[in-house]
Amino acid sequence: MDLDRDYEDRYVKLNNSHFIGWYDAQHLLPIYKLLSDSQKSSNLGEIGLYRGASVIPLLLCARKGEKVIGVDFYSHTPKDAENSKNILSGSSEKSTLYAHLQHVFSDDYIDRFVLLDRDSQQMIPADLCEPINGGNYRLFSVDGLHTVEATYVDLGNAYHVLSEDGVIIVDDYMHSTSYPGVRAGVDKFMRKFTSALRLVFVGYNKAMFCRPEYFEKYYTMIRDFTDNNAIYRKSDSWCRHDLFVDAKQFSAACYRDGTW
Ligand SMILES: C[S@@+](CC[C@H](N)C(=O)[O-])C[C@H]1O[C@@H](n2cnc3c(N)ncnc32)[C@H](O)[C@@H]1O
Repeated sequence: MDLDRDYEDRYVKLNNSHFIGWYDAQHLLPIYKLLSDSQKSSNLGEIGLYRGASVIPLLLCARKGEKVIGVDFYSHTPKDAENSKNILSGSSEKSTLYAHLQHVFSDDYIDRFVLLDRDSQQMIPADLCEPINGGNYRLFSVDGLHTVEATYVDLGNAYHVLSEDGVIIVDDYMHSTSYPGVRAGVDKFMRKFTSALRLVFVGYNKAMFCRPEYFEKYYTMIRDFTDNNAIYRKSDSWCRHDLFVDAKQFSAACYRDGTW
C-alpha cells in the first residue's frame, strides 16, 4: 500500500467534505510537493494552525526524520477579542486539529508533528530551532495573527530559521481589503531587508518567498509545472476579484529596484 497516497487521499476528502480551514488543496498541494521534492531535507513549520487545514499539507511533504513544528496560541486568554477579523483559536480547535491529524495519519506518522502552544509574538528564532535541535526549515507557512506587527515578527522569525533552499508561504498576502496588515507587514520586512527574499509565487490565497539565489529555479519550476507564464489566476470565492500575476512583472512593478 502506498501510505503517502493514502494519507493524501484522506486529507483531500476531509478538506472537501466539511470546513476545516482555508486551503485550496487541489491547486496548492501539487505546488507544495513540487517545491518540496526539490529541497534538501530539514524541517517544516507553520505559525497559525487553527484546525490543521494548511499544516496537514506540510506533514504530507515531511520525510522520515523530518519534523513539522506548528505554533498556535490555543491556550491564550482571549484578550484580543476586540480584533474581530482575526481568528483566535481555543482548546476546541486544538482538539479538532488532533482529530484531523488522527483521521488522516497513523499514530507513528503523527510523531513527526510537534505543537508549540505559544504566542508567536513572544517567540524568537531560537524557540523555533529548539524542537529541531538547532536545525532549520525548508517550508514555513506564516498564517497567524494578520496584523502588520505580527506578520512582521512571524516573517522575521521564519526568515531567520529558513534553510538555503527554503520557501516561506504567507497567507492572505493579497487580501488587502480584509487583511491589509499582512501585506503591510511583509512590505515592512522587505523594505528593511531589501535583498533577503523574493516573491516567487502568488496564488490561491498564498504568496511564496524564497532567497534570491533560488528565485530562477523555483520560478521556472512552477511556471513549467503550471504550463503558463502567468503563475496565478484567482477565481474562487475567497478573493472578490480575479488576479493574474506573473511574479517577475509583479516584483518589478511593485519594487522597481527589481531585487525581489
Ligand atoms: C487564519 S487562522 C489559521 C488558519 C489555518 N492555517 C488554516 O489554513 O486553516 C489564524 C490562526 O493563528 C492563530 N494565532 C493568532 N494569533 C496568534 C499568536 N499571537 N500566536 C500564535 N498563534 C496565533 C489563531 O489562534 C488561529 O488559529
